[in-house]
Amino acid sequence: MKKILVTGGLGFIGSHTVVELQNAGFDVVIIDDLSNSSIEVLDNIVEITGKKPDFHQLDLRIKSDVKEFFNTTKIDGIIHFAAFKAVGESVQKPLEYYENNIGSLVYLLQEMRDRNFDNFIFSSSCTVYGQADELPITENAPVKTAESPYGNTKQVGEEIIKEACNAHNFNAIALRYFNPVGAHDSIKIGELPLGVPQNLIPFVTQTAAGIREELSIFGDDYPTEDGTAVRDYIHVVDLAKAHIAALQRLLDKKNKANFEFFNVGTGKGSSVLEVVKSFEKVADKKLNYKIVGRREGDITAAYADTTLASKELNWKTEKTLDEALESAWKWQQSQS
Ligand code: UFG
Repeated sequence: MKKILVTGGLGFIGSHTVVELQNAGFDVVIIDDLSNSSIEVLDNIVEITGKKPDFHQLDLRIKSDVKEFFNTTKIDGIIHFAAFKAVGESVQKPLEYYENNIGSLVYLLQEMRDRNFDNFIFSSSCTVYGQADELPITENAPVKTAESPYGNTKQVGEEIIKEACNAHNFNAIALRYFNPVGAHDSIKIGELPLGVPQNLIPFVTQTAAGIREELSIFGDDYPTEDGTAVRDYIHVVDLAKAHIAALQRLLDKKNKANFEFFNVGTGKGSSVLEVVKSFEKVADKKLNYKIVGRREGDITAAYADTTLASKELNWKTEKTLDEALESAWKWQQSQS
């Protein structure tokens, strides 16, 4: 049985990916420092799959700990999620973001080099495209200057991996996520934002639950159909499955270059107001919201061209926005 290390495996996307890996027959080892996740997630994963992943609470910034981990555990591949991810915070704390997101990445790649294994999947983001000139966004769209240190860690991260692939014969895939939302069908795992949510869906569900008074919609003067910004919201379980497909591609040696990258989205754009309307329908509840000014750094519209991912990874999304919102709402209700 192949043993896969999932860093950040108790986080939102990480935990859903661990479940799918176990369902697909992989042996999973999780490294997580619990800085933005909870240890209970481990038990919830076991409740879903019936299998307990090996778990190490470890800070990947501590190189000696990383080394020690690999001294005692033999790994066949890595899915690397562990990273800081708040765009605004990254502007305030760029050095912490570079230390954590880049430092840890380099340490993992060094261990791969020194121990002669590879198969590396990197958690990247559509943020690398900025506001693309053409929609939907294909993988040929140019990478634009990052808007934030967070975004830059994803761009630089991809560059580092690409150079390491060339120098050390690694095989790696970066997945450029669009907007992951929703929760597992079992409603045992989902998104656990710390403090006031920055992302739309957790803010919507917390508002509906009465935790937040009202949702602020950031701008209705964008050049879109209803004036609100458009994103590609992908169900987190579909996104998790894309990781299994990418990993399998590497394990089967079906990759066409030593470093590849794919867009992972649904291909469909939805405006903020459309999301609010869909949510109101599935939750059968009116949502308090007001229109306010644009949020700094936001782009008008981003949605994926999924042709390459579906062809090369033999993967496609199976779930709708309504299903994602319904699961996010059930998850929210399960939290109180
Ligand atoms: N929005 C609101 N009100 C809120 C929160 C969000 O109107 O309270 C709007 C935003 O303005 C945006 C849309 O909802 O138009 C989606 O916002 P999110 O914050 O959920 O997602 P973003 O697309 O801004 O951010 C996502 C990821 C980031 C990544 C970024 C790249 O969360 O990690 O895409 O574009 F960097």
